[in-house]
Amino acid sequence: MSEATKILVTGGAGYIGSHLVVALAEQGFDPVILDDFSNSRPQIRDRLQRILGRELQVVAGDVNDRHTLHALFAGSDFAAVAHLAGRKAVAESARQPLSYYRANVGGTLALCEAMAEFGVRHLLFSSSATVYGESAAMPLREDAPLRATNPYGRSKLMVEQMLADLAVAQRPADKLWRIAALRYFNPVGAHPSGEIGEDPLGEPENLAPYIAQVAVGRRQRLRVFGNQYPTADGTGVRDYIHVMDLVEGHVAALRYLLSEGGAGYFVWNLGTGCGASVLEVIAAFERASGRPVPYVIDAPRPGDVASCWADPRRAQRDLGWRARRTLDEMMRDVWRWQAAHPGGLGS
Ligand code: UD1
Repeated sequence: MSEATKILVTGGAGYIGSHLVVALAEQGFDPVILDDFSNSRPQIRDRLQRILGRELQVVAGDVNDRHTLHALFAGSDFAAVAHLAGRKAVAESARQPLSYYRANVGGTLALCEAMAEFGVRHLLFSSSATVYGESAAMPLREDAPLRATNPYGRSKLMVEQMLADLAVAQRPADKLWRIAALRYFNPVGAHPSGEIGEDPLGEPENLAPYIAQVAVGRRQRLRVFGNQYPTADGTGVRDYIHVMDLVEGHVAALRYLLSEGGAGYFVWNLGTGCGASVLEVIAAFERASGRPVPYVIDAPRPGDVASCWADPRRAQRDLGWRARRTLDEMMRDVWRWQAAHPGGLGS
């Protein structure tokens, strides 16, 4: 039997990374995790091994550390890298811009240099719908204007630009890069086993984990950030996508990169194409869990946009992939995970 294709997953211990590891392994790839555990926990390894029923290689290290990368690439023959490691808190990025540029831009640069040195030229990059910023026209197509409005968003945009330059740089035919930037909308939900899920350290910034922690009694009530937006019920509208759909989109993109073809830089939205308001998400969660989610209306969060949803047709056309799971399924899986592990991975 031939050996499975090895894929390096940076940030593989995190929320999206851990689900991607499951999807890759289930589809016959051999994922290897690189993670510095700055926003994830080492217990993830046991959980993943339980789901997969086999050993998993997990390397603790920083993607910005050239020695770690060197040792990793020298020791393994990777067909591709899925680069998810990075920092993602908008408000924090405004307070600590240098650490965001160091982690997100510097980290990707160090990774690409190591990949070039070791002849690995297939890369999936974890980008974000945040690169679109405040945009008038919904749904967002990949060719919409890009205007990130905070250091986190700009770091994602800078990396996209760097990768586009890299992919089109002239080089011998045996050194062609094939790179995909995947613009995530709002990933929520959890693996149906309930073994892994979103487990933020400290107070959650994002809506779904906050709601789940309220329902399980860890937080008193949700603050709804604004109810005067120009949306149907006044609360913010987002394109929530089940994390399993999202990671299946990665696997489809990976297969596309690994298939024959010349150099290329590709951008795909990973979203459902449907928006849901904060109040709709709360209602869906209450239906799924049978628990009330007390909330208060608070001031809008600085930097939030009223609405944001994807036009997902390019990924459908190119990759034959589309999100299939409903908002109710997303909330059911959030609840299964949270109810089984009220304290997160540590419980
Ligand atoms: C946020 C970031 C985005 C980043 C993503 C990463 C901002 C402005 N955007 O997306 O750049 O890529 O996280 O995970 O921070 N909400 C509440 N109460 C809460 C939390 C959220 O009402 O306690 C509302 C928000 O106002 C928004 C919706 O819920 O309307 C979703 O919020 P969130 O989960 O934080 O995602 P984004 O803001 O879309």
